[in-house]
Amino acid sequence: MKSSTSLATALTPAHLRFLESLFPGEGLVTDPTQMAVYGADSSRRSAMPWAVVRPRTEEQVVELLTWAESERVPLVPRARGTGMSGGAVPAFGGVVVSSLWLNCVLDIDADDFCAEVEPGVVTAEFQALTQKQKLFYPPDPASLKISTLGGNVATCAGGMRAVKYGVTRDYVLGVRAVLPGGRIVNAGGRSHKNVVGLDLARLFVGSCGTLGIFTKLTLKLLPLPEGSATVLAAFPTLADALSGARGVFRAGILPTAMEFMDAKACWAVGQIKDVPWPKETQAVLVLKVDGSNASLAAELARLEVALAPAHPLCLFKGLGAQEEEPLWELRRLVSPAGFRLGPDKLGEDVAVPRGSTVQAVEGFQAMGAEQGVQVACYGHLGDGNIHVNIFYDASDADQRSRAQACKETVFRLTLSLGGTISGEHGTGITKGPYVSWQLGEEERALMAGIKNVFDPSGILNPGKGWS
Ligand code: MLT
Ligand code: ZN
Repeated sequence: MKSSTSLATALTPAHLRFLESLFPGEGLVTDPTQMAVYGADSSRRSAMPWAVVRPRTEEQVVELLTWAESERVPLVPRARGTGMSGGAVPAFGGVVVSSLWLNCVLDIDADDFCAEVEPGVVTAEFQALTQKQKLFYPPDPASLKISTLGGNVATCAGGMRAVKYGVTRDYVLGVRAVLPGGRIVNAGGRSHKNVVGLDLARLFVGSCGTLGIFTKLTLKLLPLPEGSATVLAAFPTLADALSGARGVFRAGILPTAMEFMDAKACWAVGQIKDVPWPKETQAVLVLKVDGSNASLAAELARLEVALAPAHPLCLFKGLGAQEEEPLWELRRLVSPAGFRLGPDKLGEDVAVPRGSTVQAVEGFQAMGAEQGVQVACYGHLGDGNIHVNIFYDASDADQRSRAQACKETVFRLTLSLGGTISGEHGTGITKGPYVSWQLGEEERALMAGIKNVFDPSGILNPGKGWS
């Protein structure tokens, strides 16, 4: 047994023999070409795992965590690797634990309005199953067609519908997880309300695999809205677009989604797709409403009236999924199209109090101009959650340092407005060094204390904490 302070720095032959016996056949991966993919995520950072294991049962997870605790072997839990901050990258070494073979939907219950799933279930596939029973699981991270429910819970994934329906946290009723040493925790359950004890289930949400490994999740469901409708409007100035958004809220409308794209984001999308807005467009809003089919035409008309005082240059409406899809495709294209602005990016996801969005976006754009790098802002305007993408050429040392300086001024302005350096992507490794800019010593000490209770040896996802 290792001392309580040191983690293993590599796997020994005895460790490998143990893993081979616990994960027979393809359950254990040690070939570097196959492992490489398990060492990267959408942050475009990567590190080679020591080994990859793919449990099929909770019993295997229990044995793995018992062994890892006793041998002080770091474990890095992982799902599809769609995270954007390097949370799943084994940057500090360790065995990657993939949840993709724990992928059963155990129960979808239209009376309890809840579902029980294993963590490796793909989010969109789960949503399709719930819809067959006229049930609705609202969280919709951009990656939902490939990301998993376990990954979404581990990162508290957000998405476009958060403005009306909240984020993943709001749909987690229960978590069953295995802790270091093999202890099994059942937190929460199928009740939609529960105030007995501390809310341990929610503590796991967004903990990025640092507290335990999920084996079952209990998720809350809603009745499925009958239909939806979308408006896309282009504006002559950013301020007009943001005042249009304010007008929508002031009219008493709570949209399902309220997204925006600034001039650079609109330009980038226009480079890869025919766009419907005129050349002088400086910002675009995309709004969705949902409800009964009978009400949707009236809701669209209300949106149009609420936006009118902000002088849209043009406005397009879509009623029902088929008409809405081309409008939403334009928003979804921003992420890939952005690379027309530069070959490399620092992709940030700050959030500010809603009333500060104009000041924030104008400030971020000015910082890009000041540093001579391309900054595109877009995202979840309704939540004040702004994707600030800084494009640059990483092969040029000067551009690299100007991009970095821009990122840091973006964080400073965000914090000075009372915001957060990460609204939905988490801190992982890309924002880890900046956590202390936002969280005080007292808060970080409390978090470190909580981590210590769950994982006293620090074997779970080392280096991704909050100290
Ligand atoms: C999105 O909103 O599209 C995602 O969070 C990904 C991104 O940062 O673009
Ligand atoms: Zn987003």
